[in-house]
Amino acid sequence: MCGIVGYIGNREAYPIILNGLKRLEYRGYDSAGIALYDGNDIQLCKTKGKVADLETKFSAGISTNGSLGIGHTRWATHGVPNDVNSHPHYSNSGNLVIIHNGIIENYETIKQELIKRGYTFKSDTDTEVLVNLIEEVMNHEDTKLGKAVQIALNEVVGAYAIAVFDKRKPNEIVVAKLGSPLAIGLGNDEFFIASDASPFLEYTKTAIYLKDEEMAVIRLGRDVKIRKIKDDQLVDPYIQRLKLNLEQIEKGGYDHFMLKEIYEQPHAIKDTYRGRLLANKGIIKMSGVDDNLEKFMNAQRILIVACGTSWHAGLVAEYIFEDLARIPVEVEYASEFRYRNPIITEKDVVIAISQSGETADTLAAIKLAKSKGAFVFGVCNVVGSTIARETDAGAYTHAGPEIGVASTKAFTTQITVLTLIALKLAKLKGSLSQSDYHYHLQELELIPQKVEQALKSDVHIQMIAETYMNARNFLYLGRGYNFPVALEGALKLKEISYIHAEGYPAAEMKHGPIALIDENMPIVVIATKKGHYEKILSNIQEIKSRSGKIIGIVTEGDENVRDLADHVIEVPETVESLSPLLTTIPLQLLSYHIAVMLGKNVDQPRNLAKSVTVE
Ligand code: F6R
Repeated sequence: MCGIVGYIGNREAYPIILNGLKRLEYRGYDSAGIALYDGNDIQLCKTKGKVADLETKFSAGISTNGSLGIGHTRWATHGVPNDVNSHPHYSNSGNLVIIHNGIIENYETIKQELIKRGYTFKSDTDTEVLVNLIEEVMNHEDTKLGKAVQIALNEVVGAYAIAVFDKRKPNEIVVAKLGSPLAIGLGNDEFFIASDASPFLEYTKTAIYLKDEEMAVIRLGRDVKIRKIKDDQLVDPYIQRLKLNLEQIEKGGYDHFMLKEIYEQPHAIKDTYRGRLLANKGIIKMSGVDDNLEKFMNAQRILIVACGTSWHAGLVAEYIFEDLARIPVEVEYASEFRYRNPIITEKDVVIAISQSGETADTLAAIKLAKSKGAFVFGVCNVVGSTIARETDAGAYTHAGPEIGVASTKAFTTQITVLTLIALKLAKLKGSLSQSDYHYHLQELELIPQKVEQALKSDVHIQMIAETYMNARNFLYLGRGYNFPVALEGALKLKEISYIHAEGYPAAEMKHGPIALIDENMPIVVIATKKGHYEKILSNIQEIKSRSGKIIGIVTEGDENVRDLADHVIEVPETVESLSPLLTTIPLQLLSYHIAVMLGKNVDQPRNLAKSVTVE
């Protein structure tokens, strides 16, 4: 978590860093700070709160001069969010200043050692320990900043993306990476540093993504020099041309990124299957799968590891793989999997799902699976992310940048990719009849226009949101393919509106949650025509007879649920395995509108961050 930005060149650094931090607020937003070198000294301003609060603090008279600077937007790990714990942090002499995304696990031991040597600390952070360790190395070993950073990082255990400069040498910034992302934008004798490329897209489309255990000395008038932190080996930089454009990371007329991303789903799903799904020819082409067909075909089981919404996509995939391709599947929370000594063999295929490609627990689960010899396949959205690089093969979701903290288009595009894989294997295994296979392909191709249709219920959903915005609890029920959608609907509501919500398999209701039902309990029931429809109707009757308020998500034209429910929201008809791609749309819109009506910060809900790079 945390976003970092830096600039060195001939422009004013402040606006570049400030705007860059605003774009990176998805990574954390409990405090922010910027340090600028004004030609004489470092001007440092930091505050608890958002980047907008930092801007206000600067505008009260703090100098914004300088063409060298670093900035940080924080998601607290060590030390509560307050002004003092905010980054950047000075070293004791005031010569060095640092920003850090990650965790130094052995900081307490190092801190005690530094205290013995006379260092004092203002904050509770691990980062202040690191900058003083670098200073101690510089003084003790009489080295330059770059070498001191390298020596210090060889002492620390943990994860980091750092940028540090020395006010006595204001023509260079030193950066390093292990575990947390770090991109260097290359301009015309100017350099940009950021957690992802979004802060510098309008200045340059040429960038280097540092790899783990690499560091770089970025000096004006010189090429960027990259080294391995451990053995000092020089590395040839891999310079990339970025395809991202600015419009993709802006709101484009929508009030919130979340709404924009909900509405982008028809396009995102199409982009995800474009070039892969050739429905009229009956072909699915996916190089990551095609090149590793033997692994998939001989898999004794598929293990899916993920967190949060991505885990819900994994649960949908479990139904798809088992139902269509007849391959046994287990879905695990990455955070549990990595610590429970799981049985993994070389005959397992592990699929890791992650929008950001940076989730620490998912990454650790991948490493564990690889160490046991399993073939690991990644389903990621962020191109070039750590998980995309760490996996043996993979398929991108092509959803475009997802900036709203609540995941929406990532979920539907993950399901799209996983469906393509399952259908491909189903065909090869002969587990689906030819006609069923072709029918699924045609239906998948139609999903974008059906999502478009589902989005038309938006105004109707706003009215439902108004009716229930003050409810204290919600239940979400679904069966089969739509049970994970119920979980996802509840998660969406919880995370952005702070209303307690539970997702349940509809039939489980009578084993406990039914006790919660009274006239104050809204219950969202996913009751599409093909998914155990008769059973769901009985569940609805059970709720009705206990006076619960029913919001039914139904197939277009359904009359049975309409007769029983307080409200219905229609989605177009499709094959059951694809129905989650449609039923999830009204649930996203419902949570969005309730949160907006309650005045919550939809794109940046409290306590959360978009990419969870700590365990
Ligand atoms: C929920 C949400 C989180 C993420 C989870 C995994 O809306 O965004 O639950 O799904 O943190 O993140 P990724 O997919 O980036 O690994």
